[in-house]
This record gives sequence, structure tokens and C-alpha cells, in this order.
Amino acid sequence: MRISPKPVQSFRDDFTYTNSREAISRFPFPFVEDEYRYSVNIEPHAMSGPDGSVFEKFLDIDEHYLSEMAERAIVLKENPARCLSMKHMDLACWDMIERVMSALSADYPEHFSLTKQGDNWHWHNKLLDIQEDFVFGDSSTLPMSPLEYIGRQVQGDFAILDQRNADLFMDAGIVTCPADWSLAFDAGMSFSEWHGPVPMAREEGIFERALKYLTAIQVGRPVRRLNWTLTINARMDTSPETYPSWGNERTSVTPENVAEKVHLRVEVQVLDRMPRSNALMFSIRTYLISLEDLVTNPQWAKRMHRAMKTLPAPLVEYKGLTRFHPMVVEYLSQFDPVN
Ligand code: HEM
Repeated sequence: MRISPKPVQSFRDDFTYTNSREAISRFPFPFVEDEYRYSVNIEPHAMSGPDGSVFEKFLDIDEHYLSEMAERAIVLKENPARCLSMKHMDLACWDMIERVMSALSADYPEHFSLTKQGDNWHWHNKLLDIQEDFVFGDSSTLPMSPLEYIGRQVQGDFAILDQRNADLFMDAGIVTCPADWSLAFDAGMSFSEWHGPVPMAREEGIFERALKYLTAIQVGRPVRRLNWTLTINARMDTSPETYPSWGNERTSVTPENVAEKVHLRVEVQVLDRMPRSNALMFSIRTYLISLEDLVTNPQWAKRMHRAMKTLPAPLVEYKGLTRFHPMVVEYLSQFDPVN
């Protein structure tokens, strides 16, 4: 089953975003046990998921494509610094262009096509009605930087990590829908520095083991992990830069509106080694589902109740759930026979 992009819906103001029945059924529900703890939850991104699953293709294009691209354009207009690239990352950004264009045209030929004659490339994005003739590796032949050009045409945030001294550095990225972190703030930081605010994981040795794993990733062997949080309203852009427009929404949750307002926000994060630059491309593909839609699956509702009920206090606080977490647990308890 392949879902076609639907007309633009909004992730702000009137929040017209909705998930179709198909989108709900393929939602990447993240809880594999009744208790959630941080772990080195990295696995091969084998692209062998069942037909129609979000893991079927290297990059998942779904019914929200046009909406997410419209939202990205709004955010970049408000703040162009959501797309940053240091000079030494030029080659890595061209690596990304090749990876994304090749994957999209191979996996979704009805929407995208790429033709190459040596370094003269032709790109056609039928969904956004974009056609471009450009010279691979020559940024002056694109209407904007390579990173912004491709970032405006693919769902998900991207960080491009330079690898040196057995460490990773956040030296480029396009990040318009982060779960409360800032690319401009983290730019140039190392793996351990940008993970500085995360509780519990460092003491448990999770970051040390993850970094060893990541620096050894080879070309053609992408891996993935899931992360999650809860977001009020279907808001994609929960960045520190725009905190004044969403921070106080956390106080708007009541027992009456909790199912409609609180959304489970899941990030499918894929890491892929770039062949020319040796950089790592880190994509963060965000999926949102309201609790109301989530509980249409009884297994998810029951498990989510247990995972929320037993969530360690430092995680509740770090993820910004403190004000409404008890209401979420209370609401979900009706779907769990053992509560
Ligand atoms: C959180 C980036 C890989 C585990 C974060 C944050 C960022 C980030 C920016 C938010 C930190 C903040 O509060 O300011 C990245 C990038 C990665 C990467 C660019 C690619 C190299 C990993 C891996 C793990 C991991 C492989 C696996 C163990 C975590 C955890 C959190 C986190 C547990 C806390 C998330 C939460 O509770 O919501 N990451 N990360 N990260 N990261 Fe990573």
C-alpha cells in the first residue's frame, strides 16, 4: 500500500493536520516493551519492512509530504539560520544530494526522476513541480545551497556530521521540526557535547557505546533508531527559537481535551555513511499521532499506558511532560485491564 500526498494541512495556528486510517495503521509505534528506558537501540535500516511500512524505503514519503514541505518553507522564511553548513561540509552536502535524489527517484519514480550525463544532472520533482538542470558539485548551478535545495524537497530534518578524531561534529544541517533543540546552538559541537542535556544515558555508558558504533558505520550499511516524545497539538516546529509560541501550550491540556491535544511524536532516525566525504548523514523523520487516533489500536493503547506510567521522573522532566503527564496516564488507564 502506498499513500499519496494529500493537499496541504497546517502544523500551526488552526492545526488542520490529520492522519488517514492508512497513516495510523503504519505509524511507527516505538514501545517494544511495557517499560521504556534509554538504550543503544540501533539496528540495520534494512529496507525490508512489510509493504507500505515506514521502513520499506530508505526515505519515507507519505501523505504529509506537501504539508511538511510547506511548513519547512514557512520556518526557513522566518529564520534562515535553520539551515547551516560550514565551508568544509560542501562535499558532504553534495553527497547528500546524490543520496537523496537517487533514493527518491528509484523508490518513487511516479513522483521524482533523476537523469545523469556525466556531471550534468537533471532533476524533476513532480510533486512540487520543480525541474532543474545542474552540474553535480558546482553550487553556482543551483538556485540556493545544495543542502537547502534538497532539504526543501524531502521530509525530515537532517544533520550532516563531520567525522574526525574518532568523534562526530554537527557541522551542517537543515532542522525545521526539532523536538526542543537548536541546530544554531549545537552547530560545531561534538557527539558528547550536543547530548549534554540528556539525563541518565551518559552514566549508563549509552553514548560512549553509541559513538563507537556510529564511527564504524560503513558505506551502504545504513542503521536506524527510534526516539519519541509528547507534543501538544500537531506542531512540527517545537524549537527553542520559537518557544514563546508553543511553550505555554503545555498548560492548555485538560482531562477533557487530553486525547485530542496530546500527540505522540516519533522520530525515525537513520544514519548513513557518505561515500566521498566520509560524513554521516543523520535524518530525523518525524511522525505525529494524537492519543485519540493512537488508542484506536488496543495493543498500542495498553502498552503506551504502561510505558507512560513507569517512565522515570528524570525523563518526564527532560522531555517537558511534567505539567500534563498525569493526565496522559489517567486517560490511557481506561484501555489497560491491569491498571
Ligand atoms: C537527544 C542529536 C545519535 C540517544 C538528542 C538531542 C540531539 C541529538 C540534538 C537533543 C539534546 C538536547 O536536549 O538538546 C543526535 C545526532 C545523532 C544522535 C545528531 C547522530 C549522530 C544518537 C544515538 C543515540 C542517541 C545513536 C543512541 C543511544 C539520544 C537520547 C536522547 C538524545 C537518548 C534523549 C532523547 C529524549 O529523551 O527525547 N540527540 N543524536 N542519539 N539522543 Fe541523540
